[in-house]
Amino acid sequence: MCGIVGYVGNQEAAPILLDGLSRLEYRGYDSAGVAVHDGEAIHMLKASGRLQALRERVDAEGPLQGTCGIGHTRWATHGAPTQDNAHPHLSNDGKFAVVHNGIIENYLEQREELKARGFVFLSETDTEVIVHLMDMYYQGDLKQAFMQTAARLDGSYALGILCADAPGQLLVMKNASPLILGLGAGENLFASDVTALLPHTHNIIDLDDGEIALITSNDITVMDSLGNVLQKEVTRVTWNREAAERGGYEHFMLKEIMEQPKAVKSSIEPRIRDGRIVLDELGELARVLPQMERVVITACGSAYHAGVVAGYVMEDLCRIPVHVEVASELRYRNPLMDERTLVVVISQSGETADTIAALRECKRQGARTLAIVNVVGSTVAKLADGVLYTWAGPEISVATTKGYTTQLAVLSLLAIQLAWQRGTIDDARYQHLVGELQQLPSKCQRAIDLNTHAARIAKRYHGKRSLFYIGRNVDYAVCLEASLKLKEISYIHSEAYAAGELKHGTIALIDQNQLVIALACYQRLFEKLLSNVREVKARGARVLGVVREAERRIYSEADEALLVPDVDAMLVPVVEIIPLQLFAYHVAKCNGCDIDKPKNLAKSVTVE
Ligand code: M6R
Repeated sequence: MCGIVGYVGNQEAAPILLDGLSRLEYRGYDSAGVAVHDGEAIHMLKASGRLQALRERVDAEGPLQGTCGIGHTRWATHGAPTQDNAHPHLSNDGKFAVVHNGIIENYLEQREELKARGFVFLSETDTEVIVHLMDMYYQGDLKQAFMQTAARLDGSYALGILCADAPGQLLVMKNASPLILGLGAGENLFASDVTALLPHTHNIIDLDDGEIALITSNDITVMDSLGNVLQKEVTRVTWNREAAERGGYEHFMLKEIMEQPKAVKSSIEPRIRDGRIVLDELGELARVLPQMERVVITACGSAYHAGVVAGYVMEDLCRIPVHVEVASELRYRNPLMDERTLVVVISQSGETADTIAALRECKRQGARTLAIVNVVGSTVAKLADGVLYTWAGPEISVATTKGYTTQLAVLSLLAIQLAWQRGTIDDARYQHLVGELQQLPSKCQRAIDLNTHAARIAKRYHGKRSLFYIGRNVDYAVCLEASLKLKEISYIHSEAYAAGELKHGTIALIDQNQLVIALACYQRLFEKLLSNVREVKARGARVLGVVREAERRIYSEADEALLVPDVDAMLVPVVEIIPLQLFAYHVAKCNGCDIDKPKNLAKSVTVE
């Protein structure tokens, strides 16, 4: 998704903006631009393609001088990723420049009206209406024009605006798109994400929807949509800059895979005290949790896959009906729920548009809502009745890894605690599961030790054009995630299939060219899965088995195997996914793919 950044201070803005944009690259983009105020006027440069193309333009056609500016990486939604459509957009008289993340839903009607009034549009974007509206309303009072403009906009937006009449000032506004302000010494910034601010400051202000801020090098004034000044809390981000950088790894994805033992430990350890699970962060929600009669889990992408795992585990362990649904469906379905329904919303970023909309809909229906989120203070975290943070640390790679495993870790804590409260497990089982949870970080480390093996297998199979992941129960849930990992970074088609479903049609696709990855860690259905392995072997497929270390029978059935550390069945997914993340990573690497920035994808999908 688009990334925005702004700087005002005592240093040259352009290099700082370009650096900030490079830290937002992971969000996904296809063009970029910067605008800088030199004290007299606004100067702007844009380029389609990678940031390097913009840097080259700035070097060749710059310098862009001035200590106040805005920058943008664009992920095309309205119009192709061309230079004209790239942000910033300038008003016809060059007085205003705007960068925007989000979608202006009513832009067509605004565009028609503005055209009729004589404004000339130079792009196909929804964003361009904003600069023309500013121009139309501006009578010398910037704040007033901004509030009038904002009142005309429907949709989601994080906006950064420069005005030629106001050197040394930035104007920003947030509505349903992420935007954070950074307070430095003699300099202030804004950005879509804290990672772009860390080289300058760890002190941040989190804007809420509808809030406006006027930023100079020495001051930040935050106002509500009517212009009333607000006192905002300044929080200190503990993430360090290195944590957001690659730390010697070739790709963020690999770094983040390797960080999983530590990340899972951060999710679990502070929540186990004297052998008991403590979720006191939940406050009031903790009190009503045992009274819930039904659980609905909703999320998108990998977070949804974590929810599918939790669906199997919770229903089994807690004996409560659990329904798992992708947020983009749930939000439009008029679902049946009430105050006895616990809705668990899962999101790494906490800014996924569909997830936010589903959460709002569930709240509207009266459900109790619990968010499992990584990014502190994100929209999902703020909207839900209770939050359990995953504490995974910054995740930069578009393909989530530690985001997913820490979600599983937190969901496991929740499931065990709920089962205990509902009396569906006895103390012995409770203590066994808590002990297993505590061992998870070291088990994750053992799974990471499969890296060399996974790389060898990837080398053998990276030329395949399609493959299958099959499994049953939680193994099947992990298939969904393993298949997505491979698809999104290597562009190889794969399907995740419930093993028992193969014979209902899809087995027609199995022949000697297919690789079938059979996930068989879920012990209770191991024999059933072996039968499915035999079925595909009989049709000539090659089979890679993924089994528990103790399970050697796979060798007589599969062509090769990845042996993962033994854990309780309900925790299998946390360790089982790791060699499959590594397999996907190495396949993509063998194929020369842009692993951290896969084509067409964005880290945080903040538009519908
Ligand atoms: O930030 P979220 O967890 O809400 O993101 C949800 C999905 O967009 C995300 O998991 C996506 O599927 C990843 N690219 C998967 O690696």
